[in-house]
Amino acid sequence: LASIEVDVSSLEPGMSLTVKWRGKPVFIRNRTQKEIDDAKGTQLSDLKDPVARNANLPSDAQATDVARSAGEGKENWLVMIGVCTHLGCIPLGQAGEYGGWFCPCHGSVYDTAGRIRHGPAPMNLAIPQYAFTSEKKIKVG
Ligand code: FES
Repeated sequence: LASIEVDVSSLEPGMSLTVKWRGKPVFIRNRTQKEIDDAKGTQLSDLKDPVARNANLPSDAQATDVARSAGEGKENWLVMIGVCTHLGCIPLGQAGEYGGWFCPCHGSVYDTAGRIRHGPAPMNLAIPQYAFTSEKKIKVG
C-alpha cells in the first residue's frame, strides 16, 4: 500500500502508537505540553542536525519544533519514521536524557521532537509525507 490512514482519536496527550508503513515503523505521538515546551526551548545552534528532515517541507527547512511537528495549531502531533538514522535500529520512546527517543543499539539520543542530540546517528528521525484527512485521522504516504 502506498499510503495508510490512521485513526488517532484514542491518543490522549502523552500517548503514542506505532503503525507499519512501507515495511517500516511509523511513530505517531500526541505530545504533552512539556514535551513541546522542552523542544521549543532548544536553540537551533545546539542541534547536531539543524535540518527539519520533514518530507512535507522544503528540503532545507530548519529543524525548529514547529517544522518537526504537524505545524501551527497541531504542534502536539509528531509523526516520524521509527528507524534510527545510524544503522536502522528501532529507538525506544520516552527514553534517554531528553525524554524523547533512545536507540539501544549504539546509544543515539533523540529529543522530544525526534532530533538527534548525541550519539552516532547523523540525522534527525525522518518525517514521512502525511496529512490530517480529518480532525482525528492521519494519512501517511
Ligand atoms: Fe541507532 Fe546505531 S542504530 S545508534
